[in-house]
Amino acid sequence: MHKNIVAVINQKGGVGKTTTSINFAAGLARQDKKTLLIDLDPQAHSTIGLGIEPESFTASISDVLAKKKPMAEIILPAKTENLFIVPSHIRLDKIEQQLAPELFRETFLKRAIDSLDFDLDYIVIDCRPTLGTLTINALYAANFIIVPCEMGRYALDGFADLMETIEHVKNGILEKSDFIRILLTKYDSRNKISNDWVLQQLEPFKHLIFDTYIRRNEALNQSQMAQESIFSFKADSVGSQDYQQLINEFLSL
Ligand SMILES: Nc1ncnc2c1ncn2[C@@H]1O[C@H](COP(=O)(O)OP(=O)(O)OP(=O)(O)O)[C@@H](O)[C@H]1O
Ligand SMILES: [Mg+2]
Repeated sequence: MHKNIVAVINQKGGVGKTTTSINFAAGLARQDKKTLLIDLDPQAHSTIGLGIEPESFTASISDVLAKKKPMAEIILPAKTENLFIVPSHIRLDKIEQQLAPELFRETFLKRAIDSLDFDLDYIVIDCRPTLGTLTINALYAANFIIVPCEMGRYALDGFADLMETIEHVKNGILEKSDFIRILLTKYDSRNKISNDWVLQQLEPFKHLIFDTYIRRNEALNQSQMAQESIFSFKADSVGSQDYQQLINEFLSL
């Protein structure tokens, strides 16, 4: 089964969607997989996180969704070889509102990807922390979904809604375990009580959890500020090891 279009989704903010999108995409690219990161968040954190400043480009994902500009025309190369990005811009927020009355608005991204004439192995889509039109577009376009889940007391807030939405979009197409994985992030083994609490709450979804955990690691935080992937920022860090292990696990699924 295909798992070459990966959406990174959780409507909860700050759980590690962008950190995962950037490093997962960069790690695949480092393994000679031609990879495109689509930034579908008006905050543009993936765009900026890969060193592309909002003033440096004129066209963005907004133009694809609103003006039907061919996606191939707005793809930018990132610093990492084999890694490309479809940038986002704060304008995308307005575009999401403008799409509201349009017919078939949920599949605009899927159609743009289907007609993309660009040789690629993987597409990774970074989503904004809502379950609105943009995120639904990512769900329709994707054939694999990663749900980052931050280890903490409120890890599962909104989780049921998220699962319901995914089920609704992918209704009956496949077994959930074929195309969804939960990724535990900001894991700190010292927080035994809260870790146990989260794992207990996740028990019904146990079969969906990646074996790989992403540990809390300051280098990941710093790499985002340095606008680099963890692999180029600090190759020997815990964050680099964890994201490499995630990629290995993903590729072996
Ligand atoms: N494993 C980690 N260890 C330490 N810091 C991390 C880790 N993962 C993410 N962070 C930091 O946590 C913050 C939020 O992460 P990130 O931006 O990836 O979340 P997000 O889900 O994309 O947020 P948003 O919902 O706003 O898009 C960032 O400052 C990031 O550097
Ligand atoms: Mg983000």
